[in-house]
Amino acid sequence: MTEAQTERQTIAIVGGTGPMGHGLALRWAQAGYRIVLGSRDAERAAAAAAGIRETLGAAARVEGAANDEAVAAASTVALCVPFAAHARTLQGLRSAWREGSVLVDVTVPLAVAVGGRPTDMLGLPAGSAAEQAAQLTPRSVRVCAAFHHISAAHLRDLDHALDGDVLLCGNDRAARAIVRALVAAIPRLRPVDVGPLRRARLLEPLTALLIGINGRYKVPGAGIRITGLPEGEPHPPAPSPTFGEGG
Ligand SMILES: NC(=O)c1ccc[n+]([C@@H]2O[C@H](COP(=O)([O-])OP(=O)(O)OC[C@H]3O[C@@H](n4cnc5c(N)ncnc54)[C@H](OP(=O)(O)O)[C@@H]3O)[C@@H](O)[C@H]2O)c1
Repeated sequence: MTEAQTERQTIAIVGGTGPMGHGLALRWAQAGYRIVLGSRDAERAAAAAAGIRETLGAAARVEGAANDEAVAAASTVALCVPFAAHARTLQGLRSAWREGSVLVDVTVPLAVAVGGRPTDMLGLPAGSAAEQAAQLTPRSVRVCAAFHHISAAHLRDLDHALDGDVLLCGNDRAARAIVRALVAAIPRLRPVDVGPLRRARLLEPLTALLIGINGRYKVPGAGIRITGLPEGEPHPPAPSPTFGEGG
């Protein structure tokens, strides 16, 4: 593998010590990606990375770093912090980004961030957490949103056969293709590309709905499955001019 190929295969995870970051790190490292796990505390990140290497074996390429060092080390970055820390974290990372990096924002702005219920959403001036991320990152960073509807508990349990669709959106078509590949790298997850970033306004609240369903049916991780899509379709055809989405 050339240095450039290794570079493309690196994913930084901001907030990588939490359940969601840890789960994605496990699954992506298992798929062969190099992971730089970020934390506010580099030592905590190093310990979490060592835990993943212990789980997956020494061949797993996982290391820990401070969040800003992680972002600087990769061209693909997953943001896995609670919404209460979303803006402050991105403000602190502003100078760390590489030109043209892809940011995959998994954040759901649940009302719990301000003491409300996990089945309610916050209303945001930007429209969604992902659009807020786009406002708080340098212009060249290509923000996408995805993985809102996959349970961290299921990601972290490597014996759990994942099941479901990962709806993703973003304004940059090439960035969405990168995120589709990140989804497809995890066995049994199917990427469903829903178009431009403003669709995050529709995706993020579905998590609150799923949390409510989990409670009603006493299950740990209800998910989403879109029906009616063509089998094996790698990505959607170009949008019809009728809809003119630019996505
Ligand atoms: N959990 C799920 O099943 C799930 C599913 C879909 C989407 N999500 C979304 O994924 C994101 C992460 O979820 P999670 O459950 O992993 O969250 P979490 O455990 O609350 O936080 C993740 C990490 O963020 C860092 N963090 C916490 N508070 C912070 C603060 N005030 N400032 C900066 N960093 C802070 C911590 O890392 P350090 O202390 O090491 O810095 C923590 O380990 C959330 O936005 C959530 O909506 C979660």
